[in-house]
Amino acid sequence: MPKTSSRIAGFHTLDRIQRLKTLAADLKLDAGNVDAFLNASAATGDIAAHMVENAIGTMNVPLGIATNMVVDGRDVLVPMASEESSVIAAVCNGARQCRATGGVRTSTTGPLMIAQVQITGVSDPFSARAQLFEKTPEIKNICNEMDPLLVEMGGGFKDIEVRVLDTAEPMVILHLIVDTRDAMGANAVNTMAEAVAPHVSKWTGGRVELRILSNLADRRLVRATAKWPLKEIGGKGVRDAMVRAGAFANADPYRATTHNKGIMNGVSAVVLATGNDTRAVEAGAHAYAARSGRYSALTRWEVAKDGTLSGSLEMPLAVGIVGGATKIHPTAQFSLEIMGTPGADKLARIAGAVGLVQNFSALKALATEGIQRGHMSLHAKNVAMMAGAEPDEINAVADALIESGAVRQDVAKRILKKLRSK
Ligand code: MEV
Repeated sequence: MPKTSSRIAGFHTLDRIQRLKTLAADLKLDAGNVDAFLNASAATGDIAAHMVENAIGTMNVPLGIATNMVVDGRDVLVPMASEESSVIAAVCNGARQCRATGGVRTSTTGPLMIAQVQITGVSDPFSARAQLFEKTPEIKNICNEMDPLLVEMGGGFKDIEVRVLDTAEPMVILHLIVDTRDAMGANAVNTMAEAVAPHVSKWTGGRVELRILSNLADRRLVRATAKWPLKEIGGKGVRDAMVRAGAFANADPYRATTHNKGIMNGVSAVVLATGNDTRAVEAGAHAYAARSGRYSALTRWEVAKDGTLSGSLEMPLAVGIVGGATKIHPTAQFSLEIMGTPGADKLARIAGAVGLVQNFSALKALATEGIQRGHMSLHAKNVAMMAGAEPDEINAVADALIESGAVRQDVAKRILKKLRSK
């Protein structure tokens, strides 16, 4: 019987391969699966072992290139890491269709991150708030002393914000606003928040509790816009249906969630390819989408004066090119190189541009033939593999599946059997 206890004493002291052997023995794992996993992790497994606790290997996700993207007048090939069929193809198509109008134009608000310091046990929160504002120069010094390199690069402490929350016991929330330049900035701002904490406690007479960045990076926004000519989208009927699809997402949280999920298909794929924190970006995006108190779409779709379809996106996008996995993971480094080694600001612009184009393609498909046809041609290959097709059989099985109109595993198995009997 496989081991059922999750207690493996000293697991973290083993090396990666020993851990895997222990798991394989305890759980009686299939030897073929273990070998396949080992082979798949061969190149990056040892790096993974330095990145997380108890690493046994890596989870490989396809990395593809979005072609045709033009961002702020420059062509850029964009690496995207995604397990989902048709995500990358959709960007290639959507980007091609707005090349004639100059591609995607972007702007950013700058790389400002927020760290929060929670102060409780203050009897007069509003005077504590005023005191904190008086201490801004001291706070600035404490923060900047924590990261002289960042200051040298033109970043560092910028300002504070102080809010009083009307909770059961009022609490004072200090925001440190920090320019983190090319870093995503979590480490930098968390260090600063921890450094100011004892001083804040002394100044206010309160208790400092949480000290952590906010992933609602609403001072680190990307804005992206593009226009799609009528002849590329298939005429006024499609354009107007896409505008109505956008309006649907703006008005209805059920639709907005799926609409934004589609945007994040693109954004997160770029974020992951560059070793950035997908969860941080996702959390920020969804919180920003709900900033009015009602969850809504991150994009807007309109008809421009010249009749083209005009799309625009606005969302927080906290990514970096220094620190964390971005610097140590070879795929992340390679992805950055493919894009011409952008700085964090440029990387955020590219990711935002991909999100907008991704949304265009999803809405176009939904407003016309539906997404299943395009999706199915790629999905058919997955189904063929699930049915056991070998690499030299996948295309034939996938083609036959599409022709059959039933992209299902049982059908794939029948096709495979027939193919092999020939
Ligand atoms: C699927 O991953 C994404 C879509 O559902 C997005 C959308 O509905 O807008 C196609």
